[in-house]
Amino acid sequence: MTHTLIDGKKTAEELLIEIENKVDRLKQQNITPGLSVVLVGNDKASETYVRSKVEMSKRLGIHSVHREMSADVSEEELLQEIDNLNKDGAIHGILVQLPLPSHINTEKVLNAIDYKKDVDGFHTLNAGALSKGLEATIPCTPLGCIILLKRYIGDLSGKHAVVIGRSNIVGKPVGQLLLKNNCTVTYAHSRTKDLPAVCRQADIIVAAIGKPEFVNAEFVKDGAIVIDVGINAVENTDNSQRKRKLVGDVAFNEVCNKTSAITPVPGGVGPMTIACLMYNCLYCACLINGVEFDMADNLRA
Ligand code: GUN
Repeated sequence: MTHTLIDGKKTAEELLIEIENKVDRLKQQNITPGLSVVLVGNDKASETYVRSKVEMSKRLGIHSVHREMSADVSEEELLQEIDNLNKDGAIHGILVQLPLPSHINTEKVLNAIDYKKDVDGFHTLNAGALSKGLEATIPCTPLGCIILLKRYIGDLSGKHAVVIGRSNIVGKPVGQLLLKNNCTVTYAHSRTKDLPAVCRQADIIVAAIGKPEFVNAEFVKDGAIVIDVGINAVENTDNSQRKRKLVGDVAFNEVCNKTSAITPVPGGVGPMTIACLMYNCLYCACLINGVEFDMADNLRA
């Protein structure tokens, strides 16, 4: 079967251009969206993610502040920093990079962020609003998945979506968004019995497991749509110069010919996540300033 390659890089670029234009318009009203990214500790992957978030903000003309705190920072000190950012009128979005060191209560920290500045959509008020189908800040990766599905597939009504993974960052919210778009949603996870058989019932599979190339051809019925959220660095076994390469949670080469549409890794969901962070920052700046948020992909209401 020939498949459509769902191009996240191209879609993200289109979205970023639209956001950049909207940021320019806000600036004409003397509002400069501001994003603060807080990194605790020196996890290499987190440092890379944070750097790319700050660089992208700069490209779009979003004021960005990068705050680094040592791995042994006290919870109190981190909460104080969040309190300062909550009160800072130049900051509309606060992102605390996860994971946090184990001595810090992640839930307490996420809920200390003013929910209107919660660009990640991880605050309990935003997560609760999303689960009730109310207006909320939507977590970036799930938002990216839905924008891709809406742009490439269109109406999702009646489709059976199987979400593999039940994290608060991806699995749960992506399932809620699919439900909002009239899909029949099944959450599958590590305790699901006969996972391949469950997945073979899916019109849409969203793979958010964190296991390299876990979803193989056995999981996929002919004509299914596959969204691969995984980003896994693995050893490169071919003879190229690079020691490591990125693969998704889906064994792309064996799965792609069974699908009607599929996201690649890299170049699929990954670029959408960062574009959606910028989107959320613009959304929060509009919300705080009482300005209409009129993006083409407004999936909130
Ligand atoms: N760590 C991994 N993904 C994310 C994310 O989307 N937001 C934050 N804050 N931390 C993460």
